[in-house]
Parts: sequence; C-alpha cells; structure tokens
Amino acid sequence: MENIDSMLSLDWDIPKKPYPAKAITLPTGSKMVVREISREEVPFLLDAIRPLLTISADYYDIVSARMYAELLGWYRYRVRNEYCLVGIVDGELAGIVNNRLYDSKTCISYHTMALKRGGRVGAHLFAAKQEHAIENLGVDQILVTAESPIGFNRWMVEWNLEPRQGMQHELGGANAYALTKEGYYLRKSKLVFGERPVPQALLEEALHFKVVAPDMVKDART
Ligand SMILES: CC(C)(COP(=O)(O)OP(=O)(O)OC[C@H]1O[C@@H](n2cnc3c(N)ncnc32)[C@H](O)[C@@H]1OP(=O)(O)O)[C@@H](O)C(=O)NCCC(=O)NCCS
Repeated sequence: MENIDSMLSLDWDIPKKPYPAKAITLPTGSKMVVREISREEVPFLLDAIRPLLTISADYYDIVSARMYAELLGWYRYRVRNEYCLVGIVDGELAGIVNNRLYDSKTCISYHTMALKRGGRVGAHLFAAKQEHAIENLGVDQILVTAESPIGFNRWMVEWNLEPRQGMQHELGGANAYALTKEGYYLRKSKLVFGERPVPQALLEEALHFKVVAPDMVKDART
C-alpha cells in the first residue's frame, strides 16, 4: 500500500519562484497585504472556506467547494504546480486565490474568493495571481473561466479577455478565455496595484491571520 501511495503522490513540480508580498491600500484606507501561502498553511484556509460551502448566494457554494478540493489536493500532493495567495487586512483573512501551472508557458486560472466584500479585494487578488504567473513565473498565457456573473464582469469584461472558441478549460466549465502576456501588460497600469517592499511590521502582522466569519455566513444565520 505504501508503494501505491507513493505512485499516486506527485514526483515533480515546476520549480517555484516565491511571490514577493505587496501592500494595497483599500478604499477604507486599510492596507491589504497580499502574500503567498505555504503548503503547511493550507489547513487554516480549509477552516476558513468550510462555512461557505452551503452559501448559495453569489455562487459561494460552488466556488468554495472547488477551491476547497483544489487546496486539499495540493496539500495532499494530488495537484501539480499549484500556488495560492491570500489578502490579509488588519490581521484578518480577506480573500483567497489559487492557480496552477499546466506547464512552464500556460497557467490555469483556478479560483478567486473575497471574504470581505465591497473593496475590490477579489479584483486585486485576481490581478495578483496573474501578476505572479506572468511576471515571476514567466508564462505566456493564462486560461480563465467564470462560474459567477460577478466573476465574469471582473475577469472577462474588466480584463477584456480573449475568448478561445472550442477550447475547454481544465475546470470543465463554460467558454475558456485567455489572458495573454500582451493583454496583461496592456491593462496592468489600470488593474494591478500594490507597493513593495511591505513595511516589516505590516508583513510580520500578516504572517498570521484570524479567520472571522464572513458577512455572507453571518447573513445566512439571520
Ligand atoms: C467575484 C469576487 C471574487 C469579486 O470580488 P471583489 O472584486 O472583491 O468584488 P465584491 O464581491 O466586493 O463586489 C462585486 C459586486 O458585488 C456587489 N457587492 C459589493 N459589496 C457587496 C456586499 N457586501 N454584499 C453583496 N454584494 C456586494 C457589488 O455589486 C459589486 O460590484 P461593483 O463593485 O462592480 O459595483 C467576489 O464577489 C466573490 O468572492 N464571489 C463569490 C465567488 C465567486 O464568484 N468567485 C469568482 C468565480 S468566477
């Protein structure tokens, strides 16, 4: 059995380059630190995602279920080349994004989830994960699909993504779209924000985060 388990576990990953953390000023004036998550931190994210699995409003259920499976898959060595970034505001988890490199030139956009609404947390985190793919990991294109109307507006419309007729996205959803390297740099000045380096005290504060029940969960209880 031990042998079979090692056959099922990943034997290689494309070598990772770290994502340099950045700080984004939100409309409230608070700073959101965007930083990469290590595999060992995944269980904390799973705890944060679990309460959202039954929230059907704005498609949190399907997005959280899929993100849960993707992160657990990464944690248990069942998904190759995955990475995950989080946004932390005032010591609280504000949003989560993940992606996977298909190979060194193509990235698969996985999921984006905002736990704090109304401040473009999700939009900033989506931009950050694509920034990592293109600027640090050096891919030529990112394949994106949407699972919610808000997501469609944020990704396909705001980024003016290119439809790829007839191509299936790894998530098996509706049409696949592409964010190419050229498209990314065309929109970067309007959509990709953040300052580096993050001041040491702020970065240290963001190394740990509290998970506070997001508004969607509180609303569902009332
Ligand atoms: C899609 C998503 C990541 C976008 O995050 P975001 O950029 O931070 O944007 P918000 O969610 O705060 O706001 C999006 C829209 O929701 C509405 N909204 C804002 N605050 C809200 C709140 N507190 N409660 C409900 N709706 C709100 C607004 O119409 C807003 O659109 P606008 O800012 O363009 O006017 C986020 O809505 C989310 O996590 N949705 C559930 C999961 C999902 O759909 N993921 C994407 C799959 S493709």
